[in-house]
Amino acid sequence: MLNTTRWNRLRYSLYAPLYDAVAERAFRRPRRLALGQVVWQPGMRVLLVGAGTGLDLPWLPRDVELHATDLSPAMVRRTRRRAEALGMDVEATEMDASALRFPDGHFDVVVMHLILAVMPDPARGLAEARRVLRGDGQLCVMDKFQADDRPAGIGRRTLNALTSAVATDITRQARPLLEGAGFRIEQDTPVMMGALFRALMARPARDG
Ligand SMILES: C[S@@+](CC[C@H](N)C(=O)[O-])C[C@H]1O[C@@H](n2cnc3c(N)ncnc32)[C@H](O)[C@@H]1O
Repeated sequence: MLNTTRWNRLRYSLYAPLYDAVAERAFRRPRRLALGQVVWQPGMRVLLVGAGTGLDLPWLPRDVELHATDLSPAMVRRTRRRAEALGMDVEATEMDASALRFPDGHFDVVVMHLILAVMPDPARGLAEARRVLRGDGQLCVMDKFQADDRPAGIGRRTLNALTSAVATDITRQARPLLEGAGFRIEQDTPVMMGALFRALMARPARDG
């Protein structure tokens, strides 16, 4: 399977100049709905993981402390440029979601939009998100998922060999992934293409 972190760094650096043309308009509503499920408060410390070109920035509150990370330097540069254009103060850093360089319990909100279906090991990314979140913090996820109640069939798994190499995995299941990483899902809303794309808000489970 051609889905490795090294490949993702390379291909997203190649995709970066085209990314907004593909993803800006298409995901505007899903991102707004996902970020709208978070309970925002002034002064919150917020981390965008796999921030891409920073397309979430226009939909975030202005009175929070924003940190953005991405594997691809080309994406990080675009996030910085967007933040500057929007007049937002964003600390944008090149960083692998599977090894976040932040202390435990550092963030009130972690946003993972369209990255859990891209990373080779999403469970590792979620474990890192949980580690850097405060005990009552909020995880905001928006992505494409296979239904929770049945694993992907043979047709979808075959197609996945192609889609996971060039774009995204289409077989991952949100609830097993999030609950397996110690999260309790509070909101789970279909946001695009039926229930293929979902927006979830979850918090660390107390016993997780
Ligand atoms: C489909 S894009 C989503 C970008 C953005 N979150 C959005 O909603 O538009 C996936 C992003 O994840 C980044 N990425 C992939 N693997 C990563 C990893 N292991 N750590 C950090 N970023 C990663 C890619 O560079 C790319 O910018």
